[in-house]
Amino acid sequence: MLVVNGLTCRFGAKAAVDNASFSVAPGSFVGVIGRSGAGKSTLLRSINRLSPISSGQVRFGDLDVTALRGRELRKWRARSAMIFQQFNLVGRLDVLTNVLMGRLADVPSWRSLAQLWPAEDVAMALSALEQFDMASLAAQRADQLSGGQQQRVAIARALVQNPEIILADEPIASLDPRNTKIVMDALLRINKHFGITVICNLHSLDLARSYCDRLIGMAQGRVVFDDLPAALTAQIARELYDLEADEVMDMHPAPAPPVPAIGEAAVA
Ligand SMILES: Nc1ncnc2c1ncn2[C@@H]1O[C@H](COP(=O)(O)OP(=O)(O)OP(=O)(O)O)[C@@H](O)[C@H]1O
Ligand SMILES: [Mg+2]
Repeated sequence: MLVVNGLTCRFGAKAAVDNASFSVAPGSFVGVIGRSGAGKSTLLRSINRLSPISSGQVRFGDLDVTALRGRELRKWRARSAMIFQQFNLVGRLDVLTNVLMGRLADVPSWRSLAQLWPAEDVAMALSALEQFDMASLAAQRADQLSGGQQQRVAIARALVQNPEIILADEPIASLDPRNTKIVMDALLRINKHFGITVICNLHSLDLARSYCDRLIGMAQGRVVFDDLPAALTAQIARELYDLEADEVMDMHPAPAPPVPAIGEAAVA
């Protein structure tokens, strides 16, 4: 169980995450939603300890994530794999080597520098690529792939870390609708088939509703909604997104205009 308790992340005077508290049960697929600047990325990055925590706690089972340093912190970063909007692959390296980078926490650096990957790691990386229909592209340079293919490589790289949690920060923000579905399905597969908890920042409410079993809504750094997707009414969504609401809520047609009472129409 991941427990976030009173988590606050300040940049100068501004609290990007402000006293956030929630827990995530193993095997959940949680969507974090909210308008731009709400603190979604900072929340995910602080769980992974990429962003500094000003106060509060992150716990994972018995582990006090907030207090980790050095090797223990590196191990935690492997257990809570991040996936980024921009994929973060090494473009000049081939797909297989990019996936093998996910094994770095367990492989001595001299071996990785010399590209002496253990045979079982290579088998694991190929099998991860196969999960997402990418094994045939193992020898291709990463910068020759489409965005959707690159994100699937990034997901395979995360998978070989043997993570318990995947933290995905708008993983489909730069993808077209077809690749969006392929990548979201890949995350769903990781969640359902491997039982790995997924926490995913999403801009689109439609996607959040269709893929997540729980939604956390943020506004100005605070958690303002934490419930099942079905509990997110159009009214709450409008409050969460303010002027961006129409952009993220394609599935909600605008309400029909009120029917004028007899006699009114003539006046209008
Ligand atoms: N490294 C930083 N230095 C200073 N301010 C930051 C930093 N990172 C984030 N912020 C600020 O913290 C607030 C929350 O940012 P964050 O990136 O977490 O929001 P977000 O919900 O992910 O937004 P978006 O949907 O645009 O990605 C913003 O006001 C942002 O400007
Ligand atoms: Mg963000």
